[in-house]
Amino acid sequence: MIAYDPTNHTCALHTAHTTYQLAADADGRLLHLYYGPRAGAFRTVPPPHNDPGCWPDLLPQEWPAPGLGDNHTPFFALDWADGSRAADLRFAGAEVCSGTEPLPGLPSFHTGGETLRVTLQDPRGLTVTLLYAVFEDCDLITRAAVVQNTGTTPLTLQGVPSGVVDFGRKDLDLITFDGAWAGERTPFRAPVRPGVQSVGSVGGIPTHAHNPAVVLCAPDATETSGECWGAALVYSGNFRIQTERTTAGIRLSAGIEPYGFAWTLAPGECFVTPELALVYSSRGLGGMSRCFHNAVRGHLLRARWQDLTAARPVLLNSWEACYFDFNEEKLLTLARAAKTAGADLFVLDDGWFRGRNSDTTSLGDWAADTAKLPDGVAGLCSKIRALGLEFGIWVEPEAVSPDSDLFRAHPDWALQIPGRDTLEIRHQYTLDFSRADVREGIWQQLTELLDSCPISYLKWDMNRSLANVWSAALPADRQGEVYHRYVLGLYELQQRLVDRYPDLLLENCAGGGARFDLGMLYYSSQIWCSDNTDALDRLMIQYGTSFFYPPCVMGAHYSTVPNHTTGRTASVEARMAAALSGTFGFELDLTRYTPAQLAELRPFVDFYRAHGALLRTGSLYRLCPPDGSGAAWAIAAPDGSEAVVFASDRALDGRCLVLPFAVPGKMYRAHIRATGQELQNHRWDGEELAVHGLPLPDLRADLPGYLCYLQQED
Ligand code: DGJ
Repeated sequence: MIAYDPTNHTCALHTAHTTYQLAADADGRLLHLYYGPRAGAFRTVPPPHNDPGCWPDLLPQEWPAPGLGDNHTPFFALDWADGSRAADLRFAGAEVCSGTEPLPGLPSFHTGGETLRVTLQDPRGLTVTLLYAVFEDCDLITRAAVVQNTGTTPLTLQGVPSGVVDFGRKDLDLITFDGAWAGERTPFRAPVRPGVQSVGSVGGIPTHAHNPAVVLCAPDATETSGECWGAALVYSGNFRIQTERTTAGIRLSAGIEPYGFAWTLAPGECFVTPELALVYSSRGLGGMSRCFHNAVRGHLLRARWQDLTAARPVLLNSWEACYFDFNEEKLLTLARAAKTAGADLFVLDDGWFRGRNSDTTSLGDWAADTAKLPDGVAGLCSKIRALGLEFGIWVEPEAVSPDSDLFRAHPDWALQIPGRDTLEIRHQYTLDFSRADVREGIWQQLTELLDSCPISYLKWDMNRSLANVWSAALPADRQGEVYHRYVLGLYELQQRLVDRYPDLLLENCAGGGARFDLGMLYYSSQIWCSDNTDALDRLMIQYGTSFFYPPCVMGAHYSTVPNHTTGRTASVEARMAAALSGTFGFELDLTRYTPAQLAELRPFVDFYRAHGALLRTGSLYRLCPPDGSGAAWAIAAPDGSEAVVFASDRALDGRCLVLPFAVPGKMYRAHIRATGQELQNHRWDGEELAVHGLPLPDLRADLPGYLCYLQQED
């Protein structure tokens, strides 16, 4: 609910449990007043007109502008035609609108909600419209801004935040989600220190190094209690999320990374920022995450795959089974084994197109290698379907190999700076997706592929960051637009894809999880989490990912031991626990399995089929964070009536897992499958589970795993 009082120029955004307040002061400065537990009255009073004791530097602001006394490091930065750089934005009006406003060309939270539009004006010729959307059910508030040149001369934006929140306190911790290839999104928590701190990317995609999402929380905030503010960008390109601690408190700013960004607005033109998603929770990090999960599931995923109660296919992906080394017979043998193990969908990963026998060639030539697939993709597809499996395929549409027909025909399609060597990463260049003609060329190839046979799943990969960023389609003074136009081009193509193939299950991927963000989730309801499928490492990767993204969107597969990335072994149950709490599928050479071994996998597939809807729609509880030897987590029905509890741990040592969702007074029946043991029909009182915990047997194995299903008795 949004309350706007036009007399006092105060606005209050209310969700079920939170309130966000802002107001224009007597001088027209838009001030941030409050963001915390739901509140009726206004928590702070705007200072009076021309208060001589009021330094702009100390005012908590909603949209800080540079050059006029606010000495924070500006995120919003612009050059006027006369070379001056200050902006003086004053309140010019506000209105409440029902529904949410689509952001042209950009992904955003949608369906339901209510929007507050606040207009700020600089009389020199600048209007900024701040958009606040409120999604009450999941305590989500989103922010975005539309910057318009209302003057008579061009102006150039050098940096535009999606949102800024001023916290009038200095004692907050910052949690960022950092990592590397095969080790994405590890949480790092430390007190916010004085001065500027930031995470971000200049690689054109978020990259493996940092995720475009952070948490600010009270120093005493834990998984189950304490104040937390989560901020996540709905954006998939260069980003910056920055804290600045001054005597006034902490300012959080988030948006497109200003490096490499310059956007000139002719008179009348607008620039629309990506969206920033905000959640406040007084119920600790777990409470905050569950709000984000509900928001993603309820308001971000697109229509067809938003129904998470509908069955999802169990897939087998050919990558770790074959890499580049396969022919049609090998794929069909693998598919037969996958069918016996219970899979529904066979996904042909990299290596299927003309001349692609290693990662050195052929990207851009999206037609079958008939040496491997004599009857083409359509022929393989029909043979796979004849086995009773659906068919899916891998592509990397943004990439081109120097050794490819596409590059030979269109060398200018790759991002490159004239007169410089173009950097190869993984032996490939990146196509200039800021150009409509380049996108059209790829679109033609993609539609030819997707129209050639019934393809029900597409894995869209992207295996490098951008470099040599310069576009032949733009003049010198507009090269600062290329990074962002690239992302807009990517979004345009994915939007076309989901519009034309509404039933296609699209999975995004970027060398594992280098582009795992809310922007990509708008188009694809799942993203490959990491190339590292090791059960122990996955505990940390999926734990870190779960702070903002629900388990059901995390690409997770059961793979072989020793693991191909780490060389480690882990029990079947530990590997299954990681895979079953994500999208679930197989990624290993099942042709090496005997029929009896394949049959042993079936109970896990049956488990996923039986509890898939709960796993996708339930509430995540991180019971024990990964500590190097294991972790435990649960996915429970919101009313606590049933739950799946997972643990993978070398050192449980008879530990009991406290289950906060268990309802006291209700009896629960549990089925526990642990490495080497199966315990049926144990019964516990909900109070015992919520207070003392679920006792798990102590096991000795390389990495033992536990899968428990608990259900309330009537
Ligand atoms: C990187 C992906 O993360 C892998 O799953 C696989 O698809 C390879 N690319 C193929 O090149």
